[in-house]
Amino acid sequence: MNKKQKTFFITTPIYYPSGNLHIGHLYTTTLAWVFANYKKNLNYDVKFLTGADEHGLKIQQKAQEMNLSPQEYVDIQSAKFKELWKLAKINYDYFSRTTNANHAKVVLNVFQQLLKKEIIYKGIYKGLYSVSAEEFLTPTQAKFKDGKYFHPVSEDQLIEVEEESYFLKMSKFQDWLLSSWKEKENWIYPQQIIKELENNFLEKGLEDLSVTRVSFTWGIPLANDKKHVIYVWLDALFNYLSALNFSLDDDQDYLKYWKNGDEIVHIVGKEITRFHCIYWPIMLKSLDLKQPTTILSHGLIRDANGRKMSKSLNNVVDPIYLINKYGAEPVKYYLSTQIIMGQDANFDEEHFINVYNSNLANNYGNLLSRTIAMIKQSFTGSVKYCENKIEKYEKEIFNSILQTKEIYLDEMNNFKIDKAFKEAINLSKKLNNYIDLTLPWTLKDNLERLEVVLNTLLNGLYAITCFMSCVFKEKTQEVLKQLNLTTINFDDIGNWNLFNDKIVEKGSLLFERIK
Ligand code: ME8
Ligand code: MG
Repeated sequence: MNKKQKTFFITTPIYYPSGNLHIGHLYTTTLAWVFANYKKNLNYDVKFLTGADEHGLKIQQKAQEMNLSPQEYVDIQSAKFKELWKLAKINYDYFSRTTNANHAKVVLNVFQQLLKKEIIYKGIYKGLYSVSAEEFLTPTQAKFKDGKYFHPVSEDQLIEVEEESYFLKMSKFQDWLLSSWKEKENWIYPQQIIKELENNFLEKGLEDLSVTRVSFTWGIPLANDKKHVIYVWLDALFNYLSALNFSLDDDQDYLKYWKNGDEIVHIVGKEITRFHCIYWPIMLKSLDLKQPTTILSHGLIRDANGRKMSKSLNNVVDPIYLINKYGAEPVKYYLSTQIIMGQDANFDEEHFINVYNSNLANNYGNLLSRTIAMIKQSFTGSVKYCENKIEKYEKEIFNSILQTKEIYLDEMNNFKIDKAFKEAINLSKKLNNYIDLTLPWTLKDNLERLEVVLNTLLNGLYAITCFMSCVFKEKTQEVLKQLNLTTINFDDIGNWNLFNDKIVEKGSLLFERIK
């Protein structure tokens, strides 16, 4: 009997439609998409979720500015999100919209359950609020200047609010959260996030979270207390479950990918780890629900002045411009390889071009065209693996291929996506070196030896193509066609006989140099 296919559920944050998406959002979504592709390559049953976070005061204000109703406004903006993912050639399985009726049902079900359990209670909220970040802050967390409070990151002015509110008893779960953070290895990645959250929030003691607002209307109203709308973060976080139809009639997807699922991964930018690593686990725990396997926090892309790129600072690089100029795949390749997972990075178009030319055009692409050209020059049939004719250099290459596979898998499994791809490019460099060492163009009179060299190159190219396929969906098809293969199968890396019956074909240049 076949072993049951493992499941992998991966999510991006659902982005605010209060402006257009920029390369920061493309970065997160690309990471999630690459992991989804990777797991598909390993034969997982994969579901990938992204979406739009459509409620909250900020959206209500934006819509007003544009003379639209909030619903009209978010309809337009969400459609733009989808257009961008189409242009970026990123396919997803679920697109959450928090204005969706089923989503509202799920959030209200959850709220009702928590009221019943007395984990949510009614009180008065008095404090500071950031409209741009939709975030409550204590005076100590805020920046104080000229008698006013400002958000520590976006530097937007905070408003003071005092209103009736429902609260979620965070304090009750403080000890549970602390010990869970410590017990579960890899739950939160990178681990240093935990230290920061501990210092900033848990040491002072977790305060109960205000989970409703009465000062505006654009949100999900409580069924029995309609002047309250549900706090946008509680609303938004539950999209991860509502997309799977949790608590609704047909909850097959919830059962399969969450409750009985194998791996559940949330990818988020580090500025929202507080919501994902404190509030979300507590919300799940308070409902006795399973926790995600991993919350993966990545660094932020900065502008040339080192400031975080953001819609509110209006200092962003437009992904549509980049994709139209360079193509979706090279942009996704750049984002997934040139930013060290967990660290911030500046974006620089010049650097993009350098990476493209050196890694893709001169290295991988060149390796493919050189190899195919040399084969076509000397052979009409296939070039076969001859075990008893391999020499020292081949042994080294074959070892490298196997080793690279091992490291690549290990890095990917630990979410070190940039490191994993670097291994692939290194292998490609080694193969180009191997050509310089073995000088195949001098072997035209020694076809036996030439066949060994060219077959070794094909085996190396196949491995690299498998690794790269997690980001190059379309280019991979072109390479496979030239290699006379139809599918990517990681298990075939190291099956040295793979090319014994494959007559390769010349194709067009994989990556044109950018001048
Ligand atoms: O926070 N660099 O939405 P948002 C890298 N709706 N990634 C960036 C980035 C940058 N400069 N700027 C944004 C929200 N991102 C909430 C989420 S989830 C239940 C609710 C990416 O539109 C990064 O993933 O502000 C960040 O966490 C996310 O966009 C924030 O998007
Ligand atoms: Mg934000």
